[in-house]
Amino acid sequence: MRPTAQREGAPPLSETIPEISTSVWKHNHILDLDDFTREEIELIFVITDGMKEILSREIKRAPTLRGKTVVTIFFEPSTRTRASFELAARALTADVLNITASTSSIVKGESLLDTLRTIQALGADVLVMRHSQSGAPYLAARQVNMSVVNAGDGAHAHPSQALLDMYTMRSRLGHLKGRKVVIIGDILHSRVARSNIWGLSAMGAEVVLCGPPTLLPLYMNEDRARGQLPRVTVESNADKAVENADAVMALRLQLERQEKGLLPAVREYVRYYQITQERLARAKPGALVMHPGPVNEGIEVSPEVSHGANSVIEEQVTNGVAVRMALLYLLAGGKKH
Ligand code: CP
Repeated sequence: MRPTAQREGAPPLSETIPEISTSVWKHNHILDLDDFTREEIELIFVITDGMKEILSREIKRAPTLRGKTVVTIFFEPSTRTRASFELAARALTADVLNITASTSSIVKGESLLDTLRTIQALGADVLVMRHSQSGAPYLAARQVNMSVVNAGDGAHAHPSQALLDMYTMRSRLGHLKGRKVVIIGDILHSRVARSNIWGLSAMGAEVVLCGPPTLLPLYMNEDRARGQLPRVTVESNADKAVENADAVMALRLQLERQEKGLLPAVREYVRYYQITQERLARAKPGALVMHPGPVNEGIEVSPEVSHGANSVIEEQVTNGVAVRMALLYLLAGGKKH
């Protein structure tokens, strides 16, 4: 049931978000986008539009999640994801508790499961979790009675990042169906790429993956990708890949996850895969330049492109707050059951 509680002076959320049915929404958790339908993603976008309106107010607050508690727990560093989930929860008037693994009782040997049970006992309604191990949020979702949001697990998935990426593309391009989106760089280690592949495929976009062959997962060779995800192709030549692209998404070179021998010299990488003005000129005029951040300055995207007219990198960050408000609303405030 959509909450109707209203802070004095603030219009209710139902005035911000038109009466839309949330009946297409089927998720108690947000773990990846592999089981998201186009209708669910569209619903998130429409609610995000409403959340942006709230964030444009002088007082950026709606009482939608008053009385709810959102806990974030991060086992890996983060700036954008953690800060924007916290801002999103506060904008919806939830109580927010941030736990950093490195200063928690985990360092005294407390297990992940006991940590999760402790958070549940504290009364959390939503748990936002980042972990270095792929699958850790899935374990959490099975073991506890709260909604779990995967804020990035190993190299596996980062669904809220993909949703804010897609929302940014949809805001700028109008729609995603048939749009050519090139994801370029360290695909092998990228949870952002994986979640975007699922989400963009569901939305009918054409996805091209590009990177050094050593940084493409084996299962993403051209034939497999074609067979499993009809709209995904692989092109290791960056100049060819970006031709006629509507959006070019550079990925962070995850130097901390590299095994020996996977990465050509960084100088070689820059030469063949950096998004430069010259390379970008092959894309459609006005093509979007994106990056999930954090950027390795001067490596994935040249400085003039990174800070140039085509770049929506900061807009992605800004949109992240509204998208995460929409997700918290759907999990904790907009449930029909
Ligand atoms: N894109 C992203 O996940 O950034 P953070 O690591 O700063 O959260």
